[in-house]
Amino acid sequence: MKLVIINGSPRGKESNSNVITNWIATGIVKSTQVNKISAIKTDFQRGAKDSTKIIESMQLDKFYTANINTHREAVDSIEDNSTVVVVFPLYGDAMPAITKLFFEELEIIANKKENVKMYYIVHSGFKGANHCRAVERYLVYLTDYLGFKYMGTAIKPGSEGLRLTPVENLLDFTNDFYSLSKDIAKGSDFDVNTLKRLVGFEFPSEEYKIGIKQSNGNTGYFSRILKQNNAFTKCFDKPYQRKSKKSY
Ligand SMILES: Cc1cc2nc3c(=O)[nH]c(=O)nc-3n(C[C@H](O)[C@H](O)[C@H](O)COP(=O)(O)O)c2cc1C
Repeated sequence: MKLVIINGSPRGKESNSNVITNWIATGIVKSTQVNKISAIKTDFQRGAKDSTKIIESMQLDKFYTANINTHREAVDSIEDNSTVVVVFPLYGDAMPAITKLFFEELEIIANKKENVKMYYIVHSGFKGANHCRAVERYLVYLTDYLGFKYMGTAIKPGSEGLRLTPVENLLDFTNDFYSLSKDIAKGSDFDVNTLKRLVGFEFPSEEYKIGIKQSNGNTGYFSRILKQNNAFTKCFDKPYQRKSKKSY
């Protein structure tokens, strides 16, 4: 099995997407019988205790779009009959710009590869799957445009804490992602019940929306990250705002 996994997060190896891609890779190893050894371009961190087994059991290339120089390498890695899994976070209700650049790079092999199966996993910071639905529709369109086979999009809202949560507290999620892995290994569509469990609900509660509005983005968690990046005092900057009203 030739499997290409794309981590579309700008955070690269430090991302929630990386936690998910490791679950997927580990799950596929658990469910595949194929014995083929090949290059592995990955750095397994959390959730992939059996990375040795991964190397022995399948041909796996994993790429980070955060490393913009590997976009072409990732595209070149896709052959006839490849299975491609793209995992990315929702940014501004769509994919991060670097993931979009990767999608644009795929144009090079559009309608030139046979039987390329595309699976997508989209996850978001906010709860409620509904705001991922627009990008899901785009992924259907994109896959058709490229001449590949669309195999499904799994949506996982409320993902921001994944990378900081102990694995033992995430067993329900890991089991669901292992279930997605089985579908990928079998080459079948994502199981509808697993998709429903991951989604949880389409719309967040009114209390949740009010809480988000009232916080005005000032949660302890995000403030800490902003401070770590020396950006806290700049977070309400408006660099594109005109300083004075001029008529042009
Ligand atoms: C610039 C930026 C834009 C974001 N836009 C959204 C958004 O529109 N909707 C949402 O639910 N979450 C949004 N998020 C939250 C991310 O989707 C969420 O934190 C995700 O878990 C990050 O995954 P990663 O660690 O793999 O990058 C945004 C985060 C950033 C940094």
